[in-house]
Amino acid sequence: MEELHKRPRDAWGSKLGVILAVAGSAIGLGNFLRFPVQAAQNGGGAFMIPYFISFLLLGLPLMWVEWTTGRFGGGFERSTAPGIFETVWRKNRFIKYFGVIGIFGPTIIFTYYSFIESWLLGYSVFALTGKYASCTDQASMGAFLQGYQGLVQNEHFSSVSTAYLFFLITFGINIVIMCVGLRAGIERVCKLGLLVLFVFAIIIMVRVLTLGAPDAARPDWNVNNGLGFLWNPQWAKLKEAKVWLAAAGQIFFTLSVGFGVILTYASYLRRQDDVALSGLTAASANEVAEVILGGSIVIPAAFAFFGNEGTLEIAKGGAFNLGFVTMPLVLQKVAFGEFFAFAWFFLLFIAGVTSSISLALPAIVFLQDEFNLDRKTASIIFAVVTFNLCQVVIFFNGHGALDEMDFWGGTFCVVLFALIEVILFAWVFGMDRAWSELHNGSDIRIPRIYRFIIKYVTPSFLILILGAWFIQDGWPTLLLERTPREKVPYVIGTRVLLVDLFAMVVFLVWLAWRKRQEKEAMP
Ligand code: ALA
Repeated sequence: MEELHKRPRDAWGSKLGVILAVAGSAIGLGNFLRFPVQAAQNGGGAFMIPYFISFLLLGLPLMWVEWTTGRFGGGFERSTAPGIFETVWRKNRFIKYFGVIGIFGPTIIFTYYSFIESWLLGYSVFALTGKYASCTDQASMGAFLQGYQGLVQNEHFSSVSTAYLFFLITFGINIVIMCVGLRAGIERVCKLGLLVLFVFAIIIMVRVLTLGAPDAARPDWNVNNGLGFLWNPQWAKLKEAKVWLAAAGQIFFTLSVGFGVILTYASYLRRQDDVALSGLTAASANEVAEVILGGSIVIPAAFAFFGNEGTLEIAKGGAFNLGFVTMPLVLQKVAFGEFFAFAWFFLLFIAGVTSSISLALPAIVFLQDEFNLDRKTASIIFAVVTFNLCQVVIFFNGHGALDEMDFWGGTFCVVLFALIEVILFAWVFGMDRAWSELHNGSDIRIPRIYRFIIKYVTPSFLILILGAWFIQDGWPTLLLERTPREKVPYVIGTRVLLVDLFAMVVFLVWLAWRKRQEKEAMP
């Protein structure tokens, strides 16, 4: 402990600031697009049972594990997983390499997430300028989206160049925020961003919930039935393993746990700062945004205009269909629709920015911490690497590159990393020490049952998920069994890039530790 706070480090401006930064990381596209689609496809109201069980047994414990471990490692001036893991398991020479996942994973997610985020900026502008006003049905709005993404050429877009321009702006915004730093950049953006996001989301929710039955000829196509469509439980679905996996996956994605980002955020706390109540508050804010706001917008709106069959069909098309095709169509039909559509896309854009900056942080802080770089230089190196990776996502989008990155970065690495974290916390650090570390400076006492949950239930649940995923998705994905033939070369190419990036981070960890040893050995 004598190593505590040797040199001035970045620090949060306030307790509220760090809670909002973690909430900002959590509240993202997952809350407004992914959640309603997952719920609608996986049993409606019945989905909420595995969802809340996953929240209580995985999400919340992992929040506390990450906040506590991050703050502990920060006490030794380590802010990313390789260094933080080493402070937890001092005698193990290899544990730092497990921490590589906590830098690699968020970097990969950042790569495709920032591209999708840029579509939202583009659509915010299109909403105000009326660019998609001529598209009045699902087919033409779908074609507009495909044209924008550069997947087809049509009367709206002859190439991906418009999307590319919005991508450059979005990417630039992210990097500038990172260069500005933790307090003046991330903390300020999250404080303001979350305020705007909640105001816009409430406006859209009220507008949707007051739509009634917009088509007088079809009175059963109304918002109430839309809420029923989403929330009426289909109990039989609970027998399907895939529904439980979907719920657990949604909890990971939405809370940003298992990414490595909360570790880094928490590493800037002081030793006496609360983590127990802060973790709970950030997680609860995310759940309000997800279940109440996210659950009351896209599905009820789609139902009021497209009815039961139509909404089923749209939900099958996935989250992008709902967000970028159905919502603009719905909002075209209401008074001041341009404003509401702008509010919808812009709120999603902000939700995206507050999440993507958190995804960029671990890699940047790793370069700062381990190679003594200043934040600007580290941010620029990160920008150069991820900018190149983004080209793969943009230009090979229709060929499976994005899905491949999402599978490895956003699904596999997240669960694996969470498992490593919880084992380190409960079994290596030891549950007695871990529990008292969690309660150090804490504003609440966590029910003792969580000692048992964190030690036994969370790791078992994670092993179960990993095993089931491996059998259901991992193995066939690894062997490219489900990849259409024409996509195989692109998917293999993406994999080669991912392996290269992983190897590069492993090498950097090795190098940083060697330099550290040499420095320590100097007289
Ligand atoms: N947690 C972020 C989201 O929900 C990544 O989008």
